Amino acid sequence: TYVVTENCIGCKYTDCVEVCPVDCFYEGENTLVIHPDECIDCGVCEPECPADAIRPDTEPGMEQWVEFNRKYSEMWPVIVTKKDPLPEAEERDGEEGKMEKYFS
Ligand code: SF4
Ligand code: F3S
Repeated sequence: TYVVTENCIGCKYTDCVEVCPVDCFYEGENTLVIHPDECIDCGVCEPECPADAIRPDTEPGMEQWVEFNRKYSEMWPVIVTKKDPLPEAEERDGEEGKMEKYFS
């Protein structure tokens, strides 16, 4: 599966949702997630993210992100249409510690 990781938080550019052939992105207030069981591993969303936040779970250290994506994809509504990024997207892009800031 592919997963959405920390750099989406506070940015939420949403370019990714337009290209997913199986519509498996889900939207929270500050970030999106991918449903790991619905993702068919096609990889087309990865280069679409301006924040480089989408990663394959084969990369090291992705276990926590698979868990995060699974948890919230079961709680949040599906998103299939691109919308405006969050107002502070440019400032938040690349910021450290966004996970702690927004999810603790
Ligand atoms: Fe959708 Fe393909 Fe990205 Fe998985 S890898 S979320 S199926 S676009
Ligand atoms: Fe997030 Fe990148 Fe999609 S910032 S909303 S994963 S395009």
